[in-house]
Amino acid sequence: MCGIIGFAKSGNAPLRCSDVLVEGLRKLEYRGYDSVGVAVVSKNGGFVIIKDVGSVDRVVKAPEFEVLDGSVAIGHTRWATHGKPSKENAHPHTDCSKRVAVVHNGIIENYLELKNVVLGEGHVFMSETDTEVVAHLIEHFKKLGAKPFEAFKKAVAMLRGSYALAVVDLDEPDRIFFARSVSPLVIGLGNNINFVSSDITAFVKYTNRVVVLQDGEVGYVSSSEVYVEFNGRPVDVSSRIRLVELDAQSIEKGGFPHYMTKEIFEQPYALAQTFSALQTQNISDVLRVLEEARKIYIVGAGTSYHASLLGAIAFKRFLGLDAEALISSEFRVISRAVKWGDVVIGVSQSGETIDTLLALREARERGAKTVALVNNQFSTIARESDYVISMRAGPEIAVAATKTFTTQVLSLLYIVARLAEFTGAIDVDYKALIQGLKMSHEVAQRVLEACTEVCKAIATRLAEKQSAYYLGRVFGVPIAMEGALKLKEIAYIHAEAYPAGESKHGPIALVEEGFPVVFIYLGFLDEMLESNVEEMKARGAYVIAVAQGDTVLGSIAKYSNAVVKMPKAPLEVRLITYVIPLQLIAYYTSVIKGLDPDKPRNLAKTVTVI
Ligand code: M6R
Repeated sequence: MCGIIGFAKSGNAPLRCSDVLVEGLRKLEYRGYDSVGVAVVSKNGGFVIIKDVGSVDRVVKAPEFEVLDGSVAIGHTRWATHGKPSKENAHPHTDCSKRVAVVHNGIIENYLELKNVVLGEGHVFMSETDTEVVAHLIEHFKKLGAKPFEAFKKAVAMLRGSYALAVVDLDEPDRIFFARSVSPLVIGLGNNINFVSSDITAFVKYTNRVVVLQDGEVGYVSSSEVYVEFNGRPVDVSSRIRLVELDAQSIEKGGFPHYMTKEIFEQPYALAQTFSALQTQNISDVLRVLEEARKIYIVGAGTSYHASLLGAIAFKRFLGLDAEALISSEFRVISRAVKWGDVVIGVSQSGETIDTLLALREARERGAKTVALVNNQFSTIARESDYVISMRAGPEIAVAATKTFTTQVLSLLYIVARLAEFTGAIDVDYKALIQGLKMSHEVAQRVLEACTEVCKAIATRLAEKQSAYYLGRVFGVPIAMEGALKLKEIAYIHAEAYPAGESKHGPIALVEEGFPVVFIYLGFLDEMLESNVEEMKARGAYVIAVAQGDTVLGSIAKYSNAVVKMPKAPLEVRLITYVIPLQLIAYYTSVIKGLDPDKPRNLAKTVTVI
């Protein structure tokens, strides 16, 4: 995940170029912070490009930054996906003639294919990024006679994947061309200045008049003009202008009150990004070792362990493979069982959790192959593993993991689907599985739209309680565990998860009038929950059901005090999205209790101690 900003101003706008860029880049730093860069159209008609690795504060200290002068500029904060953080890989990227400068957020899935086309014509690449190919494609179409904007549109038409692009071409230096597909992009309309950016926060200091671009829209801004088209036809965006109100604190969080809400609500985007990132990675070596594996272990801590549990069930249930999830810190205790021929998948958002790192080291020493499934591809776990699968879900700032759970589950299910294809498993419809995973971001969006209000109402009830149970069956158990962890972590309410069938073997002793019990009706073996919900209700439990809206099970209607109605979706999508209402319930409970969900006591985002 990266952040982009661009502005075009007239001589009448009293703003200093470097001030506008620094303000925008600082506000976008939450989207990526391994490198920063800008390109400014200078008075002599060329570009001034400043870029380097490091934070915004570090890069803008360069003496030449302070004196930047120009009316049209683009900038970028990077969170590396293709190519390590380095000056060469930092954006903006240019074409061979250095007349086109590009900043990009997203992943261009077919960049290798496109790169080969332009390499064949003698273009020279300066970076390892997927982005640079856009600049060369524009140059290519201009050489064939296209005008700058036409060349830009032709280049965009060739891209597959996700992108928010801002491009300046010195042959039309007053304009910033833009295009959007999946990655967010907004236009800011100011007085004698217009902006394009990944996020309103980057320019809201200067204007609160905003147009949110839609997928497939392309166009340009100048200091006095905004032009948008879709499918080759001009779009009148005047009716889409919104006035946004953001206070100084909320700006930091992209308009959300906390990083946690921001990260919960950006899950549709994160899922789309991760799916796209998975498709661009060549995982055939991983599939080969998994196919040959004697046994598959999946290790992780906290939320990553819950995703591992779900992944292990999927390996068993879909593929009949011997797979076991283990808590990283417990792994060493059983490691004598780990042998040459085993594969150990380490799941970690940060890639720095010491327990998971040590488990993977131990596994390698015992001759197993290790696979890192991480959000930070430059982390220690990624570096030390035999193979790396990178989720690229964007930085997660809130201590409570949210979007990285859903994207971890998506990634593990993607591995399962691809392994079914690789091994020719005849009883798994891998095409349907992949198709389901591809649409998970749409369902996540529908869940957020449909379920937020009821989750708030449930949170009002939970905020008064000391304890809660979360119950599910099979795949529903890790989801229940993740819901319980969220409630404990940020709302300080004791919460435990069980396979529902276990509840009568002890946990039910705690249940009395009003005791909250959340049932996960996953639409998979739901009938096995029937007797458990009856048992709970008979003891006065306050039953909360998370269930597909069209489900016909009598017990849901009969026994539930509150129902979170989930959209209808295939099983693999439900496995990803059912946790979302549980995240919302925990979040709103924390807020109602007057706590700060972003800074739970006693916790740190990344645990680097044993
Ligand atoms: O970075 P990791 O995924 O390895 O982190 C693992 C756990 O520390 C993490 O999931 C923790 O449990 C979160 N605070 C859960 O919200």
